[in-house]
Amino acid sequence: MPQTDPDPIETTLPREVTPAPLAEDNGFDRTLRPRNFSEVVGQRALLDNLRVFVQAAKARKEPLDHVLFCGPPGLGKTSLAHVIAHELGAQIHVTSGPALEKKGDLAGILTNLAENDVLFIDEIHRLNPAIEENLYPAMEDFTFDIVIGEGAGARGIKLPLQRFTLVGATTRTGLLTGPLRDRFGIVNRLDYYPASDLQEIVRRSALKMEVHLAEDGAAEIARRSRGTPRIANRLLRRVRDFAEVEGDGRITRAVADRALARLEVDSAGLDPMDRKILSTLIDKFGGGPVGLDTIAASVGEQADTVEDVYEPFLLMEGYLYRTPRGRVATPRGYEHLGRKAPAGAQSTLL
Ligand SMILES: Nc1ncnc2c1ncn2[C@@H]1O[C@H](COP(=O)(O)OP(=O)(O)OP(=O)(O)O)[C@@H](O)[C@H]1O
Ligand SMILES: [Mg+2]
Repeated sequence: MPQTDPDPIETTLPREVTPAPLAEDNGFDRTLRPRNFSEVVGQRALLDNLRVFVQAAKARKEPLDHVLFCGPPGLGKTSLAHVIAHELGAQIHVTSGPALEKKGDLAGILTNLAENDVLFIDEIHRLNPAIEENLYPAMEDFTFDIVIGEGAGARGIKLPLQRFTLVGATTRTGLLTGPLRDRFGIVNRLDYYPASDLQEIVRRSALKMEVHLAEDGAAEIARRSRGTPRIANRLLRRVRDFAEVEGDGRITRAVADRALARLEVDSAGLDPMDRKILSTLIDKFGGGPVGLDTIAASVGEQADTVEDVYEPFLLMEGYLYRTPRGRVATPRGYEHLGRKAPAGAQSTLL
């Protein structure tokens, strides 16, 4: 087995989750991405378990059981897929649900896998159902069903595959079919990071980027990053721009605060789109309940993006909540925008 860091094989181009990260983010995501377990910050319980599973699989010289990562964008699903392959000393093959359009696409990838390789399928909830069914025997018995011949003479044969590990990532667990989810032996949900972890992440990124980042500057960026490592790294890069152009390059709390205000990231870490969603709900629709599609159309964003990218954080922080009839603003949501909550408004805690 190769012990060096394996080069990822981009079997097909992964389609990025909407909204597509900026081209610059992609490059930086890669350079700042943790490469092994010790470089991954936070997610302690999940990592401790993964370490055990990886070690056990290696000791048994067996492929690691299939792994699923769920959670909002930018929390480390892709990074962890690469880390797992690295720790296994295995080659990683990267593809995504929407890229697998035909049965032949999947067959091509699966038959190219070597023993113990990692196949990473990003956005696995977007797999075409017909393709998904072909994945079941591959995951379960390491075989791929093909049909030879046509009409009455057609017969099915089971093509043997090398034993591999499938790592799937999804921003939407709810959209994954039961049969697919059940075939993953290891299911992990990634949650938003506490500010202390994000502070450690920007501290490490600043070192790699050779930026002078004061501890209070790191804390300010971390606090306003929506619990998301990718956003923390992005804000660090933007704040560095301000620090270099308008200051002496050093990022202190005051510099970070000024830069973040210019970027319209408010003191709670909400960005302009977060506030637009909240103000649409409150000012246009009287605080709700209002359907997701109506909100999305009003803010000029896709419903999927509102639901995957913006809403989870607003929900977690208690600015709005979901009811069967739609989204409703909480008193905290009103307060954040400086509006007075109507007497009937309820907190999510009630
Ligand atoms: N636990 C972590 N420790 C250190 N850095 C992290 C961690 N998680 C994420 N990052 C940073 O955040 C960036 C984004 O993470 P990643 O691309 O793995 O997220 P993702 O969950 O795959 O997002 P998406 O759903 O958009 O594909 C990484 O490149 C890395 O720099
Ligand atoms: Mg990803």
